[in-house]
Amino acid sequence: MSSTQSHSKPHREPGVVAIASPSLALVKYWGKSDDEANIPAVPSLAVTLAGLTTRTVVGIVAPGAAHDGADRGATDSVRVDGEVIPPDRNRKFFAAVRSALGSSIPEDARFHAESRNSFPTAAGLASSSSGFAALAAGCFAAVRREAELGTISSVARVGSASAARSVFGGFVTLRSGAEKAEPLFGTDHWPDFRVVVAVLHEGKKDVASRSAMRLTRDTSPFYRAWVDDSHGVFEAGVRALADRDIERLGEIMRLSYLRMFGTMFSADPPVFFWRPESVAVIRECARLRAGGVPVWETMDAGPQVKMITTNGHLAAVKNALAGIGVARVIECRPGAGVTIET
Ligand code: DP6
Repeated sequence: MSSTQSHSKPHREPGVVAIASPSLALVKYWGKSDDEANIPAVPSLAVTLAGLTTRTVVGIVAPGAAHDGADRGATDSVRVDGEVIPPDRNRKFFAAVRSALGSSIPEDARFHAESRNSFPTAAGLASSSSGFAALAAGCFAAVRREAELGTISSVARVGSASAARSVFGGFVTLRSGAEKAEPLFGTDHWPDFRVVVAVLHEGKKDVASRSAMRLTRDTSPFYRAWVDDSHGVFEAGVRALADRDIERLGEIMRLSYLRMFGTMFSADPPVFFWRPESVAVIRECARLRAGGVPVWETMDAGPQVKMITTNGHLAAVKNALAGIGVARVIECRPGAGVTIET
């Protein structure tokens, strides 16, 4: 997109615009029961985060039609923050889109998508959850096909299972063996609930969560125990969330992420996403709790630490993080699910 375009006539983006926010798991999804279909082996409970967004423009081109780059037209193409994603990564996803759309899309038509994240991509901030949620909703909207959120969630899951959750706003579950996520509580369920994201390192991770997940399942002796244990942790998390009990939810969230990392540390070779700054934040949370501040941390496949707390304690948490040199902090509330810009 050149800057001169805006001087001559108003620039119109070629396609529909879908917006989604990342899904932060309070109880983690880690492991698949079916690699092919991308079905989770464990139940997860998550909150969709307002304030962080993926904005995806989805258009359709027919092969041979005029296009502006070698990556458009021949295959379905996706660019994320300007970078072309290897088509293999999205092949199954687009097959799922086509199968859901049936005859609504001509056989020779190809999707092209341009996606931008308002936060670091592939750094453990769940960019694939918002990415595939926006892409799935955008593909349906691009062919002007009304689709139920459950259908969009199921298609998004094929791209990334956490994306099935991002389709919905508020607090969302994705059960083990499920094809789609389900909304549990809306954004107004817990007005005081806050998430603080400490962005500690903006580089991309060296291991994708997908391969880390497979390695863990195939080599960690603890993986089976993780799966068996996950159901009780999930049910306890749902109860704590229903009761708006931050202490209990925090304890459950901690069990979940540390047990998930237990499977990674015990894989062969081990998977290690943490950095010294991550440990410093974890210790700071413990120090704050000892002083009566209800703040509980969690981590995903990357070095960033996310914390849950309540509105009245936000300032204390942010001050403490500044005190240990955390430069970038993002504050989020429960946010909306995927939307199409009109
Ligand atoms: C640690 O959804 O990215 O963030 O389904 O293989 O694409 P794939 O994995 P993905 O994994 C997310 C793992 C996690 C925990 C979570 O979000 O539940």
